[in-house]
Amino acid sequence: MRTGLSLLMLVAFLSSFALSAGDPGFDDLAKTPPMGWNSWNKFACNVSETLIKETADAMVATGMKDAGYSYVVIDDCWQVSRDAQGNIVADAARFPSGMKALADYVHSKGLKFGIYSDAGTATCQKRPGSKGFEEKDAKQYAAWGVDYLKYDWCSTEGQDTRTAYTQMSRALRAAGRPIVFSICEWGNTQPWLWAPGVGHLWRTTGDIQDCWDCSQPWGGMGLIHIIDLQAELHPYAGPGHWNDPDMLEVGNGHMTASEYRAHFSFWCLLAAPLMAGNDLRQLTPEIKEILLNKEVIAVDQDSLGMQGRKVFDGGAVEVWMKPLSGTARAVILFNRGSVPAPISVSWEQIGLGPGVEAQIRDLWAKKDLGPFKSRYTATVKPHDVVMLRIQ
Ligand code: GAL
Repeated sequence: MRTGLSLLMLVAFLSSFALSAGDPGFDDLAKTPPMGWNSWNKFACNVSETLIKETADAMVATGMKDAGYSYVVIDDCWQVSRDAQGNIVADAARFPSGMKALADYVHSKGLKFGIYSDAGTATCQKRPGSKGFEEKDAKQYAAWGVDYLKYDWCSTEGQDTRTAYTQMSRALRAAGRPIVFSICEWGNTQPWLWAPGVGHLWRTTGDIQDCWDCSQPWGGMGLIHIIDLQAELHPYAGPGHWNDPDMLEVGNGHMTASEYRAHFSFWCLLAAPLMAGNDLRQLTPEIKEILLNKEVIAVDQDSLGMQGRKVFDGGAVEVWMKPLSGTARAVILFNRGSVPAPISVSWEQIGLGPGVEAQIRDLWAKKDLGPFKSRYTATVKPHDVVMLRIQ
């Protein structure tokens, strides 16, 4: 198993080396998980120049930019057709000033600009896809000033994921502008095995839904299901290549504050990309406190770049741990159940000797709890977490 994994990592490393020939910048673009905002979860096809500009303004005004969020990404539906030369055409009614002007505006705020396309003939909302136009589109994005491309997988009958994503990866590398490449084939072909070096992040599941445990017949799923699907993926993430359990639903209204806190805590423990998916123009203090908790964000952005994993499974209660740089660990005590529960983390579970005296800080209460030996126990509310930094 271990040899197999090392072999896979070696192949991924070598193919990334082959891809990066002539372009030293691409592989350094996401040393920590990308942070930003994406239009899809809240606005779906209802995107416009006004929305993007107001979101960029809000990103600065709310302190999100200062907290590290930088990419403003327009998802599906900004594009309507191709012109006679095959150039992709943006919706002129919704984006009257054009994409270059919009990118300039976003850049003028000190932020980065992202866009969406699809590896097939059409996007998931039936807009033109990039199949057959990869080089042309990549050059166009670079000319507009695009910094981030999310690349979807609808209308791809007969196509191979690795080949298609590698083709766009090469096109982006050749386009002369550093562009973060976000792979979105929903985890169908285990991208964690082939995508390091092709893209900087890859979706691991179907679309997240703004609910605790719902699931949709077409593959959309609630928070709990997404978290469960990440448990085995920790060996595959690291600086420059991240598992992406999808964009955040924090603040979209259908979960409770403690469920959103659990959602955000897990994304940070998993070293997931942090792409807010709510309306930043209407941030309530409660949601702001979640999205802007700098100590929790620091867990996500830790330079070691290790993804956290489950170290104890007790059914309704779980313990997860992420090693941090230095000798620290981030720990989540997770109560999935419907009644309050005491949850313990033992030093053994997180690789500390039993006699070690460790300092513990509660990252949501923002309080030092003092030194503890052997274990720490807290009562956790239902559908909630206690998140600790243990050193
Ligand atoms: C899905 C993708 C979503 C969103 C949507 C747009 O395939 O997973 O995140 O991009 O397409 O149509």
